[in-house]
Amino acid sequence: MQKPAIVLENVSFSYDTTPVLENVSLSIQEGDFVGIFGPNGGGKTTLLQIIMGFLHPSEGKVSLWNDLPEKALSRIGYVPQIARFDKQFPITVEEVVLMGCLSHLSFWGTLKPKHKQIALDALKQVGMESFKDHCFGNLSGGQAQRVLIARALASEPKLLILDEPTASVDPEAEEAILQILTKLKGSITILMVTHDLQTIVQKVEKLLCVHRHIHLLSPSEVCEHFGLGLYHSPLIKKGFLAK
Ligand SMILES: Nc1ncnc2c1ncn2[C@@H]1O[C@H](COP(=O)(O)OP(=O)(O)OP(=O)(O)O)[C@@H](O)[C@H]1O
Ligand SMILES: [Mg+2]
Repeated sequence: MQKPAIVLENVSFSYDTTPVLENVSLSIQEGDFVGIFGPNGGGKTTLLQIIMGFLHPSEGKVSLWNDLPEKALSRIGYVPQIARFDKQFPITVEEVVLMGCLSHLSFWGTLKPKHKQIALDALKQVGMESFKDHCFGNLSGGQAQRVLIARALASEPKLLILDEPTASVDPEAEEAILQILTKLKGSITILMVTHDLQTIVQKVEKLLCVHRHIHLLSPSEVCEHFGLGLYHSPLIKKGFLAK
């Protein structure tokens, strides 16, 4: 039986006096692949940061596997929305991925040889192992994004959180990233923010529309939410998807 991985109960959040999320309750089951969409400024990144315990709700409760988010951090792999990095900084692809293993540092601050293997396996998963010794700063946007996904996977997460991982990558790289996620589907819980509903709607089990409030939708329900004025044509005709 599926167990809840993430539970939010009556969560509200404001930056100073600006309310961003209001009275949000939801439950995500272990192994779910969830797409998150909504307008710019709707609160998607804020929601992810609340789930990871980087931000604390002004009201309500968040739990991950029945525990505080802070205590679950080592089980989360995170690919942030915009990864800024210094292109001149001399760091190899392998070193970037090894950063994903930092939560496994020994008392002496060292990683074990097995972590090199974990990093290499993660690079293989995203099809970037042949770039292992390349300078990270020289990669294209889509390649860099795949390496950042490998970094998140190297932490061997139970929950993978990706904030617009396919923004600013070409359709080929987008397809490659979605294939990686589709392969992982079911083995770990995945939350992915995207504006490209058309591509994701048939791959996920659930969708969250975040617009101060949150609507939990099944893929076949997405077109019912035109009332929000965001999306202009049905993504899926009624009855097109098998229930
Ligand atoms: N650190 C901050 N301080 C104050 N306000 C913030 C901060 N971060 C975000 N906001 C505001 O909170 C609201 C929600 O922002 P958030 O980044 O969560 O939106 P989003 O749905 O991820 O948008 P996008 O699609 O553009 O990434 C916005 O109005 C934004 O301006
Ligand atoms: Mg965002």
